[in-house]
Amino acid sequence: MSDAVKVGFVPFSAVPAGTLVVFCDDGLKFGAATAKALGSATDLVKRAAAASQFKGKSGAALDILAPEGLKAARLIVVGTGKVSALKPSDFLKFGGLAAGKLQPGNGAMTIMAELTEAAMTTEQTVAIGTGLRLRAYKFDRYKTKKKEGEERALRADVWLAVADAAAAKRAFAPAGHIVDGVIMARDLVNEPPNVLYPEEFARRAGQLRKLGVKVEVLDVKAMQKLGMGALLGVGQGSARPSRAVIMRWNGGKRGVAPVAFVGKGVCFDTGGISIKPAGSMEDMKGDMGGAACVVGLMHALAARKAKVNAVGAIGLVENMPDGNAQRPGDIVTSMSGQTIEIINTDAEGRLVLADVLWYVAKKVKPKFMVDLATLTGAIMVALGTEHAGLFSNNDELAERLLEAGAETGEKVWRLPLGPEYDKLIDSQFADMKNTGGRHGGSITAAQFLQRFVDDTPWAHLDIAGTAMGAPKSDINQSWGSGYGVRLLNRLVADHYESK
Ligand code: BES
Ligand code: MN
Ligand code: ZN
Repeated sequence: MSDAVKVGFVPFSAVPAGTLVVFCDDGLKFGAATAKALGSATDLVKRAAAASQFKGKSGAALDILAPEGLKAARLIVVGTGKVSALKPSDFLKFGGLAAGKLQPGNGAMTIMAELTEAAMTTEQTVAIGTGLRLRAYKFDRYKTKKKEGEERALRADVWLAVADAAAAKRAFAPAGHIVDGVIMARDLVNEPPNVLYPEEFARRAGQLRKLGVKVEVLDVKAMQKLGMGALLGVGQGSARPSRAVIMRWNGGKRGVAPVAFVGKGVCFDTGGISIKPAGSMEDMKGDMGGAACVVGLMHALAARKAKVNAVGAIGLVENMPDGNAQRPGDIVTSMSGQTIEIINTDAEGRLVLADVLWYVAKKVKPKFMVDLATLTGAIMVALGTEHAGLFSNNDELAERLLEAGAETGEKVWRLPLGPEYDKLIDSQFADMKNTGGRHGGSITAAQFLQRFVDDTPWAHLDIAGTAMGAPKSDINQSWGSGYGVRLLNRLVADHYESK
């Protein structure tokens, strides 16, 4: 993984190179080490602040070129607002903000990781480093011509000046693996669908073997043998054969039931015979965002040698219209034995997940399973692009996901399940149908999934609004966001890793 930004750590006393970034509160006060580094330039900052009405509000920045009295070529003062009001995710944003100031070409930047009253904690410093790398990510593998001003690629060495450089360096190593996992997920989502189809996706998941992950690939024959008629029905109209991939990371104690993550991997969703309109159909290359997250998460867990047993399972298909494609009216038999009447071939994600969830529930018998899926357009109507929809049959798991969401800034919002909604997916011909009508579309989809988890503690994250095409942010400028990797890594780290 080549990175535009390299992050290193130095002591506060190091002489800053290139651009110097410092923090001040809403009283324009600096910490002691920062004041020392600024020396006589402190007065210059006061005058520049007055001239541009900079008040040190959180996330505001004062940009001073060729600052008199400083070795640095550029000084950026970032406001923190009231220090007591800072949240963990604010430090990610500060890192992102700093990376946003880097220009194409080779550059250096030194960031003084200090607040008004004290040095930033190691955790806060690591968050800045994480934000830097997340922001600097760019998917430009298919661009052969660069725009003016972008002829030179961004290559920057960013130094975080800290109280304890050795401690920060140690703590940043695992965080770096998590960022690598996010980047891996983003790459997968951004890849075009002619390049990334089920077999190629499975091959890329196979690269996790290098980290000690056991990767098992189920081909069509193997899935037929298992009776995965729901998943296979979706893929039968495609020239590209379906796959399922089971990834196992055994970093925990032997014999302890694993945690499990399941991803929807529709490499392209045309809608099938119930074909989608042409507008924005190209976005459906990202309909494998759930599977991408699972692969990125398994990378993060394995690379940082997480002390947990974890299973990742993804269903990979392409949903195409074709002479051999599945029809509305077809009835398929899922691995669970339950039959499904296909009403709309565009409600394909739940069919794929039905068989993978059942497989994981019965063969893996996990402690719990969380699935991620770009499942419904309706979740964007309900929640926009800020929160993923959360559905769960287990309050403790739901609470833990909500908490991990607040900590990482990858937010989730819980929506209801209930037997009343079940009526909407009853079929006159089969055990159920695959759509539930106009109302509560995200809920009926989740209710459908619940029929395939049995009594396994389970949560479903509908990430249609957050995995791709979300507005650019301080820490993500890419179409594919890699949503969910940091969230679920945190869930595991907070509650399921042995010490
Ligand atoms: N992959 C789509 C959902 C989607 C839409 C994700 C837009 C991201 C952006 C899913 O397979 C789908 O087509 N869902 C249908 C379900 C309907 C037919 C019941 C939808 O949401 O319209
Ligand atoms: Mn669809
Ligand atoms: Zn889909």
